[in-house]
Amino acid sequence: MCGIVGYVGTDQGATDVLLEGLSQLEYRGYDSAGVALADPSIEVHKKAGELSSLESALPESQLGDEPAGIGHTRWSTHGAPSDANAHPHTDELERVAVVHNGIIGNYQELRDELTTAGIEFDSETDTEVIPHLIGSFLEQGQTNAEAFRSAIDRVEGSYAIAAVFEGDETVYAARNESPLVLGLGENGYYLASDVPAFIEYTDRVIYLDDGEFARLTPDRVVVTDDTGDVVDTTIETIAWDSEETGKSGYDHYMLKEIHEQPTALRQCLRGRLEELSGGVSLENIDEMDWNPPIRLVACGTSYHAAAFAARLFRDWGVPAQAFLASEFTATEIPLSADSLVVGVTQSGETADTMRALREANRAGSTTLAVTNVVGSSAARTCDEVLYIRAGPEIGVAATKTFASQQVALMLLAAELSNHRSRELIRELRTVPDQVQAVLDNSRAKEIATEYRNADAYFFIGRKHHRPVALEGALKMKEITYKHAEGFAAGELKHGPLALVSEKTPVFAVVTGDGPIAEKTIGNVKEVEARDTPVIAVTDGVSDVGRYADHVLEVPPSTGITSAITANVQLQLVSYWVANELGRSIDKPRHLAKSVTVE
Ligand code: M6R
Repeated sequence: MCGIVGYVGTDQGATDVLLEGLSQLEYRGYDSAGVALADPSIEVHKKAGELSSLESALPESQLGDEPAGIGHTRWSTHGAPSDANAHPHTDELERVAVVHNGIIGNYQELRDELTTAGIEFDSETDTEVIPHLIGSFLEQGQTNAEAFRSAIDRVEGSYAIAAVFEGDETVYAARNESPLVLGLGENGYYLASDVPAFIEYTDRVIYLDDGEFARLTPDRVVVTDDTGDVVDTTIETIAWDSEETGKSGYDHYMLKEIHEQPTALRQCLRGRLEELSGGVSLENIDEMDWNPPIRLVACGTSYHAAAFAARLFRDWGVPAQAFLASEFTATEIPLSADSLVVGVTQSGETADTMRALREANRAGSTTLAVTNVVGSSAARTCDEVLYIRAGPEIGVAATKTFASQQVALMLLAAELSNHRSRELIRELRTVPDQVQAVLDNSRAKEIATEYRNADAYFFIGRKHHRPVALEGALKMKEITYKHAEGFAAGELKHGPLALVSEKTPVFAVVTGDGPIAEKTIGNVKEVEARDTPVIAVTDGVSDVGRYADHVLEVPPSTGITSAITANVQLQLVSYWVANELGRSIDKPRHLAKSVTVE
């Protein structure tokens, strides 16, 4: 939620770096955007709307060679999207400008205190208390660095904060429970909520930890802890190039990322399959200390991957349960020192998931992060990490990260249940090609055209395909803004069947021809008998095609990997419906990719 960026240096003007950085962070929020330049007085420009509104409002003369600045792209929490609520915010004398990602828990108390002291607020945001606090410490004669630290000491909650002061070529920053990463360039230093903001300039980074402060000047970066002692930081090198964060000729990041799935899955599998033994090899995982049952915690799409994995664990003899992270509390779910809690989160920053993982840590349980982002909060909070290696995903709708989570969790389930099967390894090896075959031959676009004006879309599937149905519906509603619901196929007749009509296509995932397929075909017939269009997502092994109006084909496989290929078909249907409807596909209304508030 919200993206922040900062720059100080001599190789270029701050405005260009900040605007370019914000354009890479818009996936984190796009209600409004703003920049503050220290040149040498503080210049603030901010605007409600997407970044393009700010760019058009910037005076030409501003695009100069300012030495330092900060920028922000907002996802509103306190106060509607407006020019006034956009960041940066300043103190009354405009000596300091501040951007913030997160929630200030005690902001009302601080606001009351500052108001009583005679401060007038310009916005409804929680953030604005910070520059006013800093201003009050400056009044007391503190230096910029001291005033920044004193203000942060008063703030409770989750935050990544950056500030610039008049006449000071320095960017100040602090982090607690919201991501912040520093970039070390040749002639300049960067900070941002996420690496894509500056990967064009440098791949050398330092991840800040909770409670740490950073001071970026043109010639150095100093990181200190909450007591002010200098921290011995680790410089990491990011293995992406800036090309990976572009659209590569696709109209939308989402479509590009759907098409990147074969590559993402190959990366996820690389070095992790053991052909001869039929087992898998996951770095550090076999050394973990744990006992069943396994609890998986996750939100949204990641929860669907977790639900898919929980079933697989159970199939392979390990009790496991998936929880919505926002519903998970260690008081209700008794955790002990030998419990294993797996946080599934592509961003590694989702507040609900992070809270659940921190509670598990406090209970002394073993925690494992299954994440895409190296150095993310989840990766650093958990005892162990399993990276899904999907590469950067910019579209707000999760696509390739879901497929990579499914595969990574299959590997995890095989490893922890000691499930050895050469057939499984062979099948995993072919998944990237199966996904490629779906991408090459999909009829999703024509189906989307036919049903783009439907009243609602329903998705059904059983067992491993139930999470696919849930995910198909989430993707559809998220990017088309149309009503969509996913059900366990057997549940349809227990209520939702009342909703079906000739204007509500039902997508049914049916693979193989065993008893599970037979039962879902029964549900398809119930729908068909009510003149409701059915689109079967199938490998053609059963005769479900006879009862369906259309078929979306997936390659024959076990029920497990078809959960990946069937989902790709459904991703494409949602994408093309949204495209037909002219929706903002990469930045759906009201959403953000990284949800760092509970
Ligand atoms: O970063 P996470 O995987 O923890 O995000 C959890 C959800 O916010 C996320 O999966 C969301 O549902 C998707 N962006 C929807 O496409």
